[in-house]
Amino acid sequence: QIDPTQYIRQIIRNVPDWPKPGVTFRDITTVLQDPRSFRVLIDLFVYRYMGQKLDLVAGVDARGFIVGSVLAYELNLGFVPVRKKGKLPFNTVAEEYSLEYGNASVEMHTDSVRPGQRVLLIDDLIATGGTLLAAARLLQRLGANVVEAAAIIDLPELGGSQAVKDSGLSVYTVCS
Ligand code: PRP
Ligand code: HPA
Repeated sequence: QIDPTQYIRQIIRNVPDWPKPGVTFRDITTVLQDPRSFRVLIDLFVYRYMGQKLDLVAGVDARGFIVGSVLAYELNLGFVPVRKKGKLPFNTVAEEYSLEYGNASVEMHTDSVRPGQRVLLIDDLIATGGTLLAAARLLQRLGANVVEAAAIIDLPELGGSQAVKDSGLSVYTVCS
């Protein structure tokens, strides 16, 4: 009987040469598809955050929506989306971040967080950390207190989780 973290780690699918040669993509669809790993994953987050003073879970487009919304529901919290540019219908604020070629941006509704609210930020994976850092800046611009930035997977060799920590945020990842 292996421990829950090892179980999840073993179910994550590594896809060689995707989206381009030389990159090994860490695919969490296999974790979501397997009922035991899906439950154990959510339960690890519930175990960490239950009883902590939180007001909201903010999940990052797209895979952060899947884990973030289930977690918010389990913790009796609301869920707010951090979306890729141009998808949200109401008034938005945006933050840019850099990709290998060019820039991208994430957006939130201006009324999705009230000043002082304690927010857990969650995504599936930290690579360079650019996405979570941009999401955290958005939340902070809206006056949120970002209690922690969480992800299922850290790719520590890319330095992203360190960069997020260096920005002053607490970081939690289930595995690397
Ligand atoms: C992936 C992943 C994270 C981000 C991590 O999403 O789901 O959101 O990249 O990379 P970073 O730490 O270097 O910012 P992607 O941007 O590929 O978008 P998708 O959710 O639309 O697939
Ligand atoms: N999986 C998911 N998202 C990612 C990855 C990955 O391996 N690398 C950068 N973003």
